[in-house]
Formats: sequence, C-alpha cells, structure tokens
Amino acid sequence: MIEENPVILNIKNRRSVRNYADRSVSNEVIESIIDAGIYAPTGFGIQPWRFVVIKDRDIMKKISTHCKPRLLKQLEGVNIDAAVQFKEMLKKEEFDIFYNAPVLILVLGNKYAPTADFDCAMCAQNMMLAAHSMGLGSCWIGTACLVQDDPDMLKTLKIPEDYKVVAPIIFGYGNTVPVAPPRNDPVITWI
Ligand SMILES: Cc1cc2nc3c(=O)[nH]c(=O)nc-3n(C[C@H](O)[C@H](O)[C@H](O)COP(=O)(O)O)c2cc1C
Repeated sequence: MIEENPVILNIKNRRSVRNYADRSVSNEVIESIIDAGIYAPTGFGIQPWRFVVIKDRDIMKKISTHCKPRLLKQLEGVNIDAAVQFKEMLKKEEFDIFYNAPVLILVLGNKYAPTADFDCAMCAQNMMLAAHSMGLGSCWIGTACLVQDDPDMLKTLKIPEDYKVVAPIIFGYGNTVPVAPPRNDPVITWI
C-alpha cells in the first residue's frame, strides 16, 4: 500500500456524525462547502444541481415529522438488523431524523439531466469531505428524500418543479466522532 497523504486521510477519517454541538455554522462556511461540491465531475459537464440551505429548525422538524411515518411504511417487512433498529428509532416521537443538526442542505438534481443522480452524489461527497477538512461533521439523510411526494413540502422548500431531492445532508460541529463502521475487504478482479 502506498503511504497515506492528507487527502486519503481526510477521506478515511470522515464519518457520518449524528451528535451535534449547539453551535451555528456561518454562511461563509456553508458557501465554502457548496463551492467544493460544485467541483465534482458531471456527465457532459452540465452541473445539473441546485442547493437549498435550511437553518430553520421548525422547518427541519416539519420535514422530520413528515418523513418518519413514510419511511416506516417503506420499511415494513424489512428485517435486516440495521433496519429493525432504525424502525424502533423512527417510532419514537422525540426522534429527529436530522439529529438536531444546525444545517440541512438539499442537493437537488435536474430531473431531465441524464446523469443527475451520479453528479449530485459526487457533489455531496465533495461537500462532506470539505466539511470534514474544516472541522465539521456531516451525514447524508436519505430519509429526507421522502419530502418529494408532497406538493406543500416542495413549495415550503422552494424546490422547482423540474428538480428532485438527490442528497439531503446535515452539517454541524460534532460533539463526538463515531468509530468507523468496519469496511469489508474489497472484492477485486484483476485481469
Ligand atoms: C444514500 C445514503 C443514505 C443515507 N441515509 C441515512 C439516513 O437516512 N440516516 C442516517 O442516520 N444515516 C444515513 N446515511 C449514512 C450511512 O448510514 C453511513 O454513511 C454508513 O453507516 C457508513 O458510515 P460512515 O459514513 O461513518 O462511514 C446514509 C448514507 C447514504 C450514502
């Protein structure tokens, strides 16, 4: 294995953070995170994204309350351990799908761009790595994609009709850095 450099270490040490300090994140930091995001590669170079930055806790609570029962319904009959544990959390009134993070950024993808899902996912990873390099934690909250089915929610979140939510990500200063979930050895076929 070649010696690890700062970029590789930043990649390996990023974690999904689910416990945040009660500390706000400046707009300057948020803009820097998004700026790192938009340097991701995109199919045909079309950069099919937009961003919604939400700092309003009442709106985040509204999204959480909207998405929890919908995810529970989707997970009916799914019995893998992680899903069973998550379902128990979702059933709790006080559980916030955003873990009380101070900022939620929705990475939106243009519905008509052929590679929007890939492009936005790479943008999201850039953003999470940039945040980590600046001392912030982050976590992709796929559950929040479930706002998509509700016209009122789309209006509240100012999501244009031709865009979809690809990557909802929370950011903030982490209280605790979790231990890395173990990685499986990669299956590599050499030809
Ligand atoms: C597409 C996607 C959706 C995810 N959705 C959630 C989610 O709804 N809630 C959550 O707590 N974590 C979510 N995660 C975070 C994963 O659980 C986490 O990345 C995984 O456990 C590995 O941990 P690590 O990011 O610290 O390496 C999601 C991650 C991805 C890539």
